[in-house]
Amino acid sequence: MKKILILLPVAFIVVLSCETKSYTDENGKIDAKAMFIDNCASCHGETGDAEIGGAKNLKLSTLSKDEVYDVITNGTGNGMMAYKNVIKAEAERKALADYVMGFRE
Ligand code: HEC
Repeated sequence: MKKILILLPVAFIVVLSCETKSYTDENGKIDAKAMFIDNCASCHGETGDAEIGGAKNLKLSTLSKDEVYDVITNGTGNGMMAYKNVIKAEAERKALADYVMGFRE
């Protein structure tokens, strides 16, 4: 019985940390900026051009929006991981691709 009492909160924390964060509010509005800062800025920087650890400068990227979406979804296998299991909603990844396109001048 004691063991169960100890394991319960642990299981609860594990479940909580596995839950993916939603960036879509109750009106269906997607907060792409928060999504980028939470998931991408550690390498790309908040303005997309930090180039930390070989991360491509998103201001200089020549990829099309579809290609950006594909990189976000499937990764490149070369330092840029796939986000399809992190940002699960297709609409959120599309909004993020839009946001990334916005870094270009
Ligand atoms: C762990 C560091 C890291 C994180 C976090 C990261 N990236 Fe990247 N990203 C990279 C690296 C490294 C590359 C270059 C990969 C390559 O050349 O194959 C890259 C490349 C890209 C490219 C391709 C640019 C081009 O012109 O080829 C896009 C778009 C991109 N990242 C978007 C994002 C987005 C959006 C996120 C957040 C969901 C993100 N990245 C999170 C490291 C990261």
